[in-house]
Amino acid sequence: MNAKLDSEQLYKDNVLGNYGLPPVTFVCGRGLRVWDDADKEYLDFCSGIAVTSLGHCHPNLVAAIQKQASELLCVSNLYRNENQAKLAAKLDEKAGGGGKLFFCNSGAEANETLIKLARLYGQKQCGVEGKRYKIVCAENAFHGRTFGGMSATPKAKIQNGFAPLVEGFVFAELNNLASFEAAIDADTAAVFIETIQGEGGIHPSSIEFLQGLRALCSKKGVLLLIDEVQCGVGRTGSFFAYEKAGIRPDAIGMAKGLGGGVPIGAVWIDDAYADLFGPGSHGTTFGGTPLISAAALAVLETIESDNLLENVQENAPYAVEQLLKLQLELPEYILEVRGAGYMIGIQVAESPMDMVALLREKGLIVPPAGNDVIRFLPALTATKQDFDEAIALFGEASRERAALLQESTTA
Ligand SMILES: Cc1ncc(COP(=O)(O)O)c(C=O)c1O
Repeated sequence: MNAKLDSEQLYKDNVLGNYGLPPVTFVCGRGLRVWDDADKEYLDFCSGIAVTSLGHCHPNLVAAIQKQASELLCVSNLYRNENQAKLAAKLDEKAGGGGKLFFCNSGAEANETLIKLARLYGQKQCGVEGKRYKIVCAENAFHGRTFGGMSATPKAKIQNGFAPLVEGFVFAELNNLASFEAAIDADTAAVFIETIQGEGGIHPSSIEFLQGLRALCSKKGVLLLIDEVQCGVGRTGSFFAYEKAGIRPDAIGMAKGLGGGVPIGAVWIDDAYADLFGPGSHGTTFGGTPLISAAALAVLETIESDNLLENVQENAPYAVEQLLKLQLELPEYILEVRGAGYMIGIQVAESPMDMVALLREKGLIVPPAGNDVIRFLPALTATKQDFDEAIALFGEASRERAALLQESTTA
């Protein structure tokens, strides 16, 4: 029995089916390339869904993990570790200073912390436990799979089967300030949005909307909580995607790309609200261990030393230009190209799953999003040549899919 059959059978027998049966077994990665167990090479524009921000096995990240693993892995948060302290200082600087950090293990946990912050804030404002607790989120949002995250994610596919959900989540239309204003009432504690909706299909919040929302939250005395789990840590060419609007959120959730491939979640909270979490009010065993913090520090240092924000800023417009050319050629199949930096969504004229499979066959791996979107989420190290290669494969596949769709409509 070869290795592929082995792992396929082991998956079938032992791994929970919530992802179906994953189609390929990857065994090795370098930079933007990954190889499967049959030695086939792929260009990776999925990056573990926006996680491997430096590409696979970046020497700085590997060295930091190896060094720290040989010194100290974990001491719990009952004790200090230098890496966590340094990482907190660095992330506070990125968020504009004047805040505090909490470390956890995933985006959902980061968002859970934001939701708990909203509860603490609301209760402090009105002086009554369980009164001012509502959170206004965006339609089509995705905030994770915990009960709080799920309740903030208004999608049947995600919520079905898990009732009763957490109370108090209300939804308004992204980029429609009047809709958010109408949704805020005397019981509202916070507004909570992704700067760019990722899983929902790459829908960016406009600059005017973000600025308007900041002003609205300040006027109404509710917190502005920003989920940068997918779009943060350099993905859009600035450290945080909301920076384009020049606003300061009250708290920010991060994860994914921050660890470059190891599990991390982080929350930045403005000092005005950070004390709401007093000793014992929140916690996690694994958050901010010496190992994970060393990895995240290496990611942040490499983003700076290798000028990766500039790399994204320079190459993303080129990539979009090439994709728009392709759209001109295939307007019936490629309906829209949108996003920011290396978070690009290509809306196609069908469910994305056949296209994802076809691209994989051709050697390009990409994640789908929403009902009809293919995402390009390459490592921040991706070059123009990487985009040329990806877009050539995408073009080839789009022509094939467009022809098939054409055939099926004329048949
Ligand atoms: C915007 C956003 N928030 C939260 C999450 C949940 O993160 P995790 O899967 O690490 O729990 C995701 C994951 O895709 C995300 O894209």
